[in-house]
Amino acid sequence: MSQQPEIIRGMQGVVFTISNVSAINGQEGKLVYRGIPIEELAEHSTFEEVSFLLMEGRLPRKEELEAFNRMLKAHRALPGEVVDVLKKLPSNTHPMDALRTGVSALAGFDPDLGDPIEGMALMGKDEEARKAYWEKGKRMGIRMIAAFPTLVGAWEQIRNGKQPVEPRDDLSHAGHFLHSMLGTVPSDTATRVMDVALILHAAHGMNASTFTGIVIASTASDMYSAITGAIGALKGPLHGGANQQVLRQLREIQEMGGVSKIQEWLDNLLSQKGRVMGFGHRVYKAYDPRARILKRWAGELAKEQEKELYEIAVKLEEINIQKLGQKGIFPNVDFYSGLVYGALGIPVDQFTPIFAVARVSGWVADILEYWKDNRLIRPRAYYGDQVWDRPYTPVEERG
Ligand SMILES: CC(C)(COP(=O)(O)OP(=O)(O)OC[C@H]1O[C@@H](n2cnc3c(N)ncnc32)[C@H](O)[C@@H]1OP(=O)(O)O)[C@@H](O)C(=O)NCCC(=O)NCCS
Repeated sequence: MSQQPEIIRGMQGVVFTISNVSAINGQEGKLVYRGIPIEELAEHSTFEEVSFLLMEGRLPRKEELEAFNRMLKAHRALPGEVVDVLKKLPSNTHPMDALRTGVSALAGFDPDLGDPIEGMALMGKDEEARKAYWEKGKRMGIRMIAAFPTLVGAWEQIRNGKQPVEPRDDLSHAGHFLHSMLGTVPSDTATRVMDVALILHAAHGMNASTFTGIVIASTASDMYSAITGAIGALKGPLHGGANQQVLRQLREIQEMGGVSKIQEWLDNLLSQKGRVMGFGHRVYKAYDPRARILKRWAGELAKEQEKELYEIAVKLEEINIQKLGQKGIFPNVDFYSGLVYGALGIPVDQFTPIFAVARVSGWVADILEYWKDNRLIRPRAYYGDQVWDRPYTPVEERG
């Protein structure tokens, strides 16, 4: 009987690769993309520039950024056949499922998607062939970054019985996303808020969806397969979906009577071992820097729109930190993002697709980084009872 090895459930804390794409310091509440603090990027950058930064490892020069923007705009439109695929889906299809299907359907229209055997170039000694495959992966990745907002927006229109909105190339990536989703040209404020939200969600160290993408890519498969898998991982409520639940809890408090009822609501929840959604994080044991930035924007939007939910959120945060702060439980990115998206008029089940529109840049960047020194990811499981000679029983003899 072999001895059971140490099993690290959920692979928590397991380090399997080196990545300089993004990093989190959970104790100090820091997040950097390629070494640049997220606060700097949220203040000064754009999602397009951040996508370049994540992939290339440095900020673009002016002409490089212009060329990158042109490339993204050139790949916004969807092939008519992909729109037809979306139109064939039942209208109650979840937006994440529609996105996953749309991305998978896009693969066949990409001129760089060749025979799967081409992926073996990643493993060979021919440096030029390896680089060529890597460059193909990058081009496919950029095409997907460009098409994600159009796909998500197209599904929103189609499920409401409308035609997808024709992409305009005078809009930024964030503006194009809101235009595709809502069918109207967004205000400058709405565009900037969405841009910031996309920047904040673009990468986040190693996480379940990034890892999923890397696992698929490590088999020398193609970028579309890897990203399609990553979307599947992001869909899970343990990863991409808590912001919807935050909004549900805030509305619950609102219905009970608002700010004056928070303490009662919280005592009730905690006495039943319930959880305040949008609070706590596996890595952050301090205030999530993304939550701080989104809180400010939620406050800005609340000045123009419904104030009450925001006021409830701020008070709930204060009371909750008094109660749970010493355990290292603070607001995470989801606490304020739901309020922001709700204020922009985006339907609740589209919140996770927004995450995907942003995170695809990080997925592509991390896969490209992994492909620089690709190794098949192939872990092991411990075979519990160690039986190797169990007899086969014919079906007639099974009790
Ligand atoms: C994200 C999360 C799973 C991380 O959890 P974790 O680091 O593994 O911490 P644990 O689940 O082990 O919880 C540790 C303690 O904090 C408490 N806790 C953690 N998050 C809490 C929350 N949001 N509300 C109330 N209590 C919370 C737990 O009840 C536990 O208390 P105990 O030690 O008295 O039993 C957890 O904080 C959570 O469920 N948050 C709510 C969902 C959410 O916002 N998810 C989005 C993450 S970006």
